[in-house]
Amino acid sequence: MRVEVSRDPEALADRVARELVDVVSTSEGRFTIALTGGSTPRLLYARLAEPDLRDQVDWARVELFFGDERAVPPDHADSNFRMAHQALLRHLPDAHVHRMDAEGGAAEDYEQRVLDRVAIGQGTVPRFDLILLGMGADGHIASLFPGTAATRETRRLVVMNDVPHLQTRRMTFTYPLINAAARVWFVIAGAEKQPVVKNVLHAREPAYPIRGVAPHSGELVWWLDEKAAGS
Ligand code: 6PG
Repeated sequence: MRVEVSRDPEALADRVARELVDVVSTSEGRFTIALTGGSTPRLLYARLAEPDLRDQVDWARVELFFGDERAVPPDHADSNFRMAHQALLRHLPDAHVHRMDAEGGAAEDYEQRVLDRVAIGQGTVPRFDLILLGMGADGHIASLFPGTAATRETRRLVVMNDVPHLQTRRMTFTYPLINAAARVWFVIAGAEKQPVVKNVLHAREPAYPIRGVAPHSGELVWWLDEKAAGS
């Protein structure tokens, strides 16, 4: 596990974008990435869209998925797809984008798409080259919120998850799929995240959902700004 701290959210976005470009550029063949929602990841996507970095990647080799999505249309203000499209995807005409239709609720269909397009790693679980994850102040990642059923899923790879405190349903990757990845990168900024970050890095309780992310044989990196790191 690596912990990398940047001065502020913009410096964090720049650093992660550069490392992402480097990882993709030094790989061969198809490269699979799962995007996440959130304001911090949005800064990363916007930085990636800037020509000096964007033009270093052969996006025709890249398959872009979503690790979670809200049950709304793709043009809705709450849509992770809409955010990513505005910040990045519209600038990547060659990339293969797999929108998650959470409104349709067919998690099995998206799971099959992942099985069809993402190389199988050890065993039978698809191994993403990179899964990006933001973190909420409650320690949720993707749409694995504290106490929700999807946090207890041990077999399915993509499920619909009821989130009572938000009075909504979301589609989300589960831990079996996340933990099979070759790389899992947390992208976390802001003072409101610091208590959870500090707790997860230095204590064993409580069981925030982010604790469930432990790649079996992949790399885990905490990309933080100084406020989230408490430094
Ligand atoms: C979502 C995201 C969610 C997000 C975190 C962090 O659909 O809301 O997938 O997991 O990454 O809530 O969001 P911020 O960076 O905006 O705090």
